[in-house]
Amino acid sequence: MRFVLLCLSLLLTASPSFAQEALGLAAPREIQDSGLLKHILPRFSLKTSIRVVADEAGPMVLATDPQGTAVLARGDTVYYLQVPDEAKAKRFADWITSDVGKRTIESFKPATGVPFSAQFDVVEVEEDPLFEGDANAGATLSLTHCGRCHVIGPQNRMSGLGSTPSFQILRALPDWSDRFQQFYALKPHAAFTQLEGVTEPFDPERPSPIVPVEMSIEDLDAILAYVTEIEPADLGAPLALQ
Ligand code: HEC
Repeated sequence: MRFVLLCLSLLLTASPSFAQEALGLAAPREIQDSGLLKHILPRFSLKTSIRVVADEAGPMVLATDPQGTAVLARGDTVYYLQVPDEAKAKRFADWITSDVGKRTIESFKPATGVPFSAQFDVVEVEEDPLFEGDANAGATLSLTHCGRCHVIGPQNRMSGLGSTPSFQILRALPDWSDRFQQFYALKPHAAFTQLEGVTEPFDPERPSPIVPVEMSIEDLDAILAYVTEIEPADLGAPLALQ
């Protein structure tokens, strides 16, 4: 009995929660709801005597913004950790990216949904390429040429074709800039689009089925500049274009 008591008191004195101020970690709702933090934080604390608690004020931030270090993933969503330049926070960042930290993340079995992963290749997030075009001109050109089918923004919210993806949705695709740069070659545009100096004239046998979209590379550059500024749609679930 005495032995048990001794252990208990040792545990209590060693327990980090009483020892010091907690370090805050802001995490998205779905992470908190998953129970992951309750699984990993006590294990980190036990090891380091640094107490970390969920706190939306931070200073440490776990988020899907590709800023800081990628530390965990669930499905296609990667979560990045940003920590202040401070010893305890750095200790946490080191731990969560260490083998032990990764194993701790992966050993968590969420009550619902797929487990978290800590072994993943982070695709380098490229900075959005800078298009030199005139975004204001691009807005007008998008409305004239693309707004016939696409919702390009609030300007024509009600007038796009229902089956055609909006620019906001397309903008949310990781490779949106490739798609826009090549749109004239992609279905269905090739049949009705003439990009000056780039596309072949329409085959006289197969004229454009609709009033053609005729534009210059400069126009496309302006559209790209406009699309760069569009706030991407928040695609909660993986996107199906159709
Ligand atoms: C006549 C209707 C129409 C016009 C005009 C049109 N689009 Fe589209 N666009 C579509 C449809 C329909 C799709 C969806 C194709 C699919 O899902 O396969 C699409 C898809 C796209 C995609 C995604 C292509 C892919 O395969 O990833 C881009 C980018 C795009 N359009 C850009 C533009 C731009 C820029 C303009 C104006 C310069 C424009 N579109 C004008 C009908 C149109």
